Amino acid sequence: MSALPTIDDLEVAGRTVLVRADLNVPLSDGAVGDDFRIRAAVPTIAELRRRGARVVVCSHLGRPNGPDPAFSMRPVGSALAEIGGFPVVVAPDVGGPGATETVRQAGNSVVLLENTRFEPGETSNAPELADRLAAVADAFVLDAFGSAHRAHASTVGVAERLPSAAGTLLLAEVAAFNRIIEEPARPFVVLLGGAKISDKLGVVRKLLPRVDVMLIGGAMCFTLLSAEGYEVGDSLVEEDMVDEVAEVLASAEGSRIALPLDIVVGEGFAADTAHRIEPAGDLSSHGMGLDIGPETAERFAAIIAGADTIFWNGPMGVFEWEVFSAGTRRVAEAIGAARAYSVVGGGDSVAALRSMGLADSVSHLSTGGGAGLELIEKGSLPGLDALRGTHGS
Ligand code: 3PG
Repeated sequence: MSALPTIDDLEVAGRTVLVRADLNVPLSDGAVGDDFRIRAAVPTIAELRRRGARVVVCSHLGRPNGPDPAFSMRPVGSALAEIGGFPVVVAPDVGGPGATETVRQAGNSVVLLENTRFEPGETSNAPELADRLAAVADAFVLDAFGSAHRAHASTVGVAERLPSAAGTLLLAEVAAFNRIIEEPARPFVVLLGGAKISDKLGVVRKLLPRVDVMLIGGAMCFTLLSAEGYEVGDSLVEEDMVDEVAEVLASAEGSRIALPLDIVVGEGFAADTAHRIEPAGDLSSHGMGLDIGPETAERFAAIIAGADTIFWNGPMGVFEWEVFSAGTRRVAEAIGAARAYSVVGGGDSVAALRSMGLADSVSHLSTGGGAGLELIEKGSLPGLDALRGTHGS
């Protein structure tokens, strides 16, 4: 696969550069709830400014149905200014007269366009919107790794219309994922969790032949346990996935997938529900699995400690609730302490590590969730293809 163009390949001094960042951050009471993605976006913006560019940034925020003040980029603009240490002015629209005027008057300020999803043409990659976005700038930098799996106007459309390059975040993300896909030092251990196996079965198929061990926790383990014929009580099972999962399990060498040995079972789905520990695969019909049990957590931690490459995506249980957080905490600690090259992706896993103060103890904390999974599964992403000039070919 050809190398991505970088900002060294672009003429930026004295020019206006549009940066597509992924500033899709959680908001809480109208303010930024977690600034991880904003911090990650700053180096490329700062570097372009250092090289003499006027910088215009765009991103989506949430999934609004058209313009909606609850999804305005304004709080993100305030956080970006504070973290970046440069002035930021938020334009009143995405690629309309307000954006053009704001860019014209911006002076030394970074311009942040309004939420790209306020435009109906964003998700359909409408040529008319891509044209308007391209008209705002002389060059384009894609730095939104977390959105590079979306073939939208602000990721793909504009890259096809302007001289374009990958930002430093995007390059670092792609390098980290390539390292685990192409040349993982062994043992290579993959830890998958989260609610749905349907979101991750493509990754399971792709990685199974390459891993030494794949550890599976989170609610998705119950679809696997069910496919193996075990009793899972009221736990979440994707019934329509059971046959496909059974086929994947049958094709895997038995020792490659490690499923939980014990489960923390809640009476119901609530933070304060009564709970108990039961052997996995033998859950009474009363109650649902909400975390991996302590024996599983220790077994997973021991396997993680022996790894030389680790990829983790998805929590082991409902870690937002204290009584069901122990499994996720234990594996996060183990990954933090491991000698391995480690890549962690997915909002929940990253949030768990950050809340435990372990963010700096992993090798690469990804800003992508679905994007990382799709990169593993398919080997490229629409946004990367657009930069290489191969999108749609
Ligand atoms: C994400 O949070 O995964 C990215 O920002 C993409 O968001 P989306 O799933 O709404 O396209």
